[in-house]
Amino acid sequence: MDSKAAAPGSSPDTILDGSRFVRACLRKPVDRTPVWFLRQAGRYMQEYREVRKHHTLVEICKQPELAAEVTITAAEKLGVDAAIIFADLLLPLEPMGLPFEFQAGEGPVVHHPVRTAEDVKALRTDRAAELGYVARAIEMVAAHFRDRLGIIGFCGAPYTLASYMIEGGGSRNYLHTKQMMYGDTTAWSMLLDKLVAVLTEYCRLQVQAGADVIQIFDSWVGSLSLADYKDYAFEASKRLVRAVQALGVPVIYFGVETAGLLGAMAETGADVMGLDWRQPLDEGWRAVGHAHAVQGNLDPITLFAPLEVLELRVKQIMRAAGGRPGHIFNLGHGIVPGTPVENVQAVVRMVREFRLEDAARG
Ligand code: CP3
Repeated sequence: MDSKAAAPGSSPDTILDGSRFVRACLRKPVDRTPVWFLRQAGRYMQEYREVRKHHTLVEICKQPELAAEVTITAAEKLGVDAAIIFADLLLPLEPMGLPFEFQAGEGPVVHHPVRTAEDVKALRTDRAAELGYVARAIEMVAAHFRDRLGIIGFCGAPYTLASYMIEGGGSRNYLHTKQMMYGDTTAWSMLLDKLVAVLTEYCRLQVQAGADVIQIFDSWVGSLSLADYKDYAFEASKRLVRAVQALGVPVIYFGVETAGLLGAMAETGADVMGLDWRQPLDEGWRAVGHAHAVQGNLDPITLFAPLEVLELRVKQIMRAAGGRPGHIFNLGHGIVPGTPVENVQAVVRMVREFRLEDAARG
């Protein structure tokens, strides 16, 4: 099986846990499939809830010691191959001049949403350095793990962040976003340009601090038709992907409900494509093309199923990957509150212990 083949100059035994994840992002052979989880630090975990009793979400993000602690605790408790820095997608809005807060039960609220060309013009692009607290947290996580784990930095994709800025929060129909997109293409392009500029600088800070890989979250891109994705979102995403790769790290490009968009999204040139659970992993991989690695794609709610069901689904994903280099095991979207931690740990064991030969026989 070629996933067990040694890379030139190394044997599978010498693959450190951290390099296992980065190697898989680059479709290099690894000794076993790396695994981590979207939202692996969060409210489902007792240790996180304890920290949250004393601090708001934004306080945790802005205090590097706390953000690093939450990141490290989650990764160690689960025994995963990568740690995603604890931060939030919306942090760059503040230095751009758009204050926001998380309101209990409502999610994020942007106080003065961007609705006009004037609003877009007023957005600042020169203060990304104010996000240095995320870089400091990454430095601490990197110092803690050294080469034992891959460290993931992240940012939002231009479309998804623009939708938060324009809607002022989560949205069902993306009405205001699409109104600007269709109706004022000059303002829309200026907004995406500004986001690409700020996000590139933000990623530069994260990579300089020690992030091995950057994940770009285009969480709400599934709200677009293929034609709208191509006409209004693709170009800015592609520019961001290329700019981050130029910093010297692989890029994971992630969205949900993307089955119809995957081929176009892969044309950004991202190294790894995130797959949600609505299509089998091998179909998603075919859609993005085997020149890309893939990450996914267990339904996060399967973590509430009996262990036999969970194991069946994990094995199906591993079989669909077929030992091809370039699979990173993950969920199709984030872990939700109430998820039993022991089931997340069980998935890590299942992925570690999986042998393609046994699965083929069984
Ligand atoms: O381990 C990790 O992945 C944690 C780091 C992380 C957070 N947010 C912390 C957080 C990451 C990677 C994010 C990304 C993020 N933030 C996304 C993209 C990811 C995705 O799910 O597609 C989005 C859309 C956001 C914006 C956001 N942040 C929303 C809509 C909410 C409210 C959701 C809710 O369920 O209340 C948040 C809050 C948030 N960010 C939490 C966490 C752990 C919830 C917990 C809390 O309030 O303490």
